Amino acid sequence: MIVAIDGPAGSGKSTVAHAIAEKCRLTYLDTGAMYRSVTAECLRRGIDPTDSGAVTQVARTTSITFGTSPQGQTVTANGRDVTAEIRTPEVDRNVSAVSAIPEVREAMVELQRAYGETGNVVAEGRDIGTVVFPKADVKVFLTADPAARALRRAVQREGGDAAKDANATADPTEVKRILDDLNRRDQLDSTRKTAPLKPASDAHHIDSSTLSVDEVVKAICSLDPRLEAALMEPRS
Ligand code: DC
Repeated sequence: MIVAIDGPAGSGKSTVAHAIAEKCRLTYLDTGAMYRSVTAECLRRGIDPTDSGAVTQVARTTSITFGTSPQGQTVTANGRDVTAEIRTPEVDRNVSAVSAIPEVREAMVELQRAYGETGNVVAEGRDIGTVVFPKADVKVFLTADPAARALRRAVQREGGDAAKDANATADPTEVKRILDDLNRRDQLDSTRKTAPLKPASDAHHIDSSTLSVDEVVKAICSLDPRLEAALMEPRS
């Protein structure tokens, strides 16, 4: 089965998709990490992220693989570990330009669909329910108010986890910087011509601003009996 979770940056998609993958034994596919890997590879090679020809060439020739470590998911680009590099502010600043290039999206969507063919996947991104897997069994559009989203990202950058600590705080200057960046990226991601951030017409909308991860996971699993059953299964 395919579970599609879309939404803006910081809405909690990654944490929730990861938790569903683990609890329901699905493969987790972080499509944002793929656009980030292409961006990191361009920056490393000194390629201008707005040079669509050169960036497309990078997207078509970069092999992106996912792995796991005790700290969570790992990502490699052409065999190089880019797990930390793809989360830097420099990648944050440039990834929207890279992901707005239609040919880059084509290359990534092809890879993402190949993942889907492997069977049971929970994929998160911006266009999963609309473009990548329009026939997904479950489609969710996850939102949260911008202040909650910025705080979550800032806490994450400082090594904490707002999902696990409801009282987590972060440096207010950093929260403001992240909030500005999130607003800028939302604007770019939702107004681009190709596959803009928007809910599929048949997506279930969930606002995670005041919900815990478990509450969001439960809400999503309640949408499909197979997910619900997997969630109830005792784990050894
Ligand atoms: O989810 P994220 O913040 O890691 O995504 C990084 C960027 O990649 C985001 O600004 C938009 C883009 N993206 C996209 O255009 N389509 C996707 N399916 C996933 C991410």
